[in-house]
Amino acid sequence: MADTLTITDNRTQKTYTVPIEKGAVRAMDLRLIKTGPEDFGLMTYDPAFMNTAACHSSITFIDGDRGILRYRGYPIEVLAEHCTFLEVAYLILFGELPSQAELKGWVNEITHHTMLHETTKKFMEGFRYNAHPMTMLVSSVAALSTVYPEAKDIHDPANRLLQIKRLIAKMPSIAAMAYRHNVGFPYVYPDNDLSYPENFMNMLWKMVEPKYVANPVLARALDILFILHADHEQNCSTNAMRAVGSSQADPYLAMAAAAAALSGPLHGGANEEVLRMLDEIGSKENVPAYVKKVKEGHGKLMGFGHRIYKNYDPRAKIIKWSADQVFEVTGRNPKLEIALELERIALEDDYFVKRKLYPNVDFYSGIIYQAVGFKPEMFTVLFAIPRAVGWLAQWQEMLTDPEQKIARPRQIYTGHEVREFVPMEKRAAVAEVRR
Ligand SMILES: CC(C)(COP(=O)(O)OP(=O)(O)OC[C@H]1O[C@@H](n2cnc3c(N)ncnc32)[C@H](O)[C@@H]1OP(=O)(O)O)[C@@H](O)C(=O)NCCC(=O)NCCS
Repeated sequence: MADTLTITDNRTQKTYTVPIEKGAVRAMDLRLIKTGPEDFGLMTYDPAFMNTAACHSSITFIDGDRGILRYRGYPIEVLAEHCTFLEVAYLILFGELPSQAELKGWVNEITHHTMLHETTKKFMEGFRYNAHPMTMLVSSVAALSTVYPEAKDIHDPANRLLQIKRLIAKMPSIAAMAYRHNVGFPYVYPDNDLSYPENFMNMLWKMVEPKYVANPVLARALDILFILHADHEQNCSTNAMRAVGSSQADPYLAMAAAAAALSGPLHGGANEEVLRMLDEIGSKENVPAYVKKVKEGHGKLMGFGHRIYKNYDPRAKIIKWSADQVFEVTGRNPKLEIALELERIALEDDYFVKRKLYPNVDFYSGIIYQAVGFKPEMFTVLFAIPRAVGWLAQWQEMLTDPEQKIARPRQIYTGHEVREFVPMEKRAAVAEVRR
């Protein structure tokens, strides 16, 4: 009887025993609980999936109460200190850290898929001059599906891997192209001599110099930020990737859906909002008044709070450390003063303490991005580049899990019972009732 749950249905006085596996009961076991043969069976109601596991996953572990994040068992702090982003991407996708030879091969493969087809470039040139770079990225990732129609053969592992490499390689190229379009500069082709972050910086900022040389401290900071954002288990965009991928749409289309989910201000769009909020606050002295306003229900403290972390987000700690390295090169971003004061006040304030609202990954990332030279419009794009790795690893895990099928939640219907049809000539009166 250990590891089981016994439920008594007080409607029928019947008792049921269902197994508990890994701390969960199977929702389908509850369907056996019925009031009679006509009854559909018991469902669970869980808007926003607050307490529902939709998959088994061996990729990322989070303990939100203790502020722990691990990829494939390795603490995020260790990976951020010792690895490159592409090394971590390999770990996330294949489950193990690469040997030196494996990493060399992997980096070489990614480097040789960075070019965009000229038609993709032309397609992107067609966007309005002031198009938001994240919207351009979402649409352009979807458009890659037209360039690689073979991607729809999602059951062939070799074909899947080819698309995974293409997507990881082309995300920085699309992101840089979106930026250059936005500021009106010509597109820069990838440079295969450069590392993944350096090549991205080259495509963003190269002007007339024959060879772009990235500042190594800034390139490393960007690589660390990429590591921190690579995966975060079943968040909103990953859920979108899995849900759309479960219909067997190709990975470009599924990833466009995931990127669209990321663009929202409650998800990846939050770091852009943090900068706007810091601008609105204006100076350190105005922080208490702003916090008071938030507590009175006028808006939220952007970059604070998390569905899973009810403790300091471990990524925010690493970002704060990385910010110090960046500011040694770029000079201190004046917004840091405001952010530190906001954090200090919020962490002491009962409203935030009681609700366990701590700074999340987005709170400091925007300040670093701005110091490195990015406009706020680019922040979510910078999140999407590394998160592509997590989306693709989760997509592949979903496709190879024999228990997964097309994702299709249930609902509790609250509308009308069957109604008699109302002929057109009688409908005005009905509309009046509604008004
Ligand atoms: C991340 C987020 C969407 C999580 O939401 P959630 O798990 O659904 O949490 P809830 O919205 O239920 O919040 C719980 C309580 O804390 C409050 N709260 C949550 N985040 C808050 C914030 N950033 N500022 C002020 N109050 C906040 C809510 O108003 C709610 O208060 P109540 O119990 O009095 O109604 C939410 O914290 C948020 O909007 N944060 C700001 C956006 C952000 O930084 N997003 C990036 C996430 S990485």
